[in-house]
Amino acid sequence: MIVSDKKRLLVIGAGGHAKVVIATAQAAGWEVVGLFDDDSALKGTTVLGAPVIGGTELATNLEVDGAVVAIGGSRARMQLSEKLALPWATISHPSAEIHHTVVLGEGAVVFAGAVIQPDSTIGRHAIVNTAASVDHDCVVGDFAHLAPGTHLAGSVNVGEGALLGIGASVIPGMKIGKWSIVGAGAAVTNDVPGGVTAVGVPSKVTEWRS
Ligand SMILES: CC(C)(COP(=O)(O)OP(=O)(O)OC[C@H]1O[C@@H](n2cnc3c(N)ncnc32)[C@H](O)[C@@H]1OP(=O)(O)O)[C@@H](O)C(=O)NCCC(=O)NCCS
Repeated sequence: MIVSDKKRLLVIGAGGHAKVVIATAQAAGWEVVGLFDDDSALKGTTVLGAPVIGGTELATNLEVDGAVVAIGGSRARMQLSEKLALPWATISHPSAEIHHTVVLGEGAVVFAGAVIQPDSTIGRHAIVNTAASVDHDCVVGDFAHLAPGTHLAGSVNVGEGALLGIGASVIPGMKIGKWSIVGAGAAVTNDVPGGVTAVGVPSKVTEWRS
């Protein structure tokens, strides 16, 4: 019998985002032993060779070294991370450049080609997606999601749960409020309040949500 010495990871969520999380984890040396998803139609399927075992209520039955919530939506990621008592892993693709002073929260995932510069902090279960860049002294809140190709200049503060859409850019020192959405391709040149959607170049608030 061949026994793997790789660390064993389980993955919550089996959609498209999970595919990239699994690719990242495998590149980082994890063995993905199973996925859990509440969509019963996915049970018995595989994602990059890893089996979808069943609903998320079963996830705590498996003995693993780490777990990750692989769902792009920030609120669902928060809810599942709070519901499930699992040993949350922090995963970085080997091609990501992360300065040694950077603090990554538990459950955070950093995808291929991302760059995170000195003294920045990435919150719990936050996502720094493919080729995103985070310059010096940024604070990225818990459950926030920097979509592929997002660029944060220095000293930017991204609030809890905020989503910066693909290719969004933020000039130095700006604050993005909690649970706000910055549209794809936006250029943020003023603070964005919490709970809004802001789009465009320069970005303007187009929606206030409760
Ligand atoms: C901003 C966003 C959230 C708006 O989504 P929505 O509420 O469904 O908005 P709609 O698609 O109904 O568009 C509403 C209006 O905003 C405009 N709009 C939408 N997204 C825009 C953007 N990124 N920049 C500029 N204008 C945008 C639309 O053209 C439309 O304009 P109109 O009313 O003049 O026709 C979405 O378009 C977006 O950019 N999401 C980012 C997705 C992403 O990058 N995810 C990461 C995956 S890893």
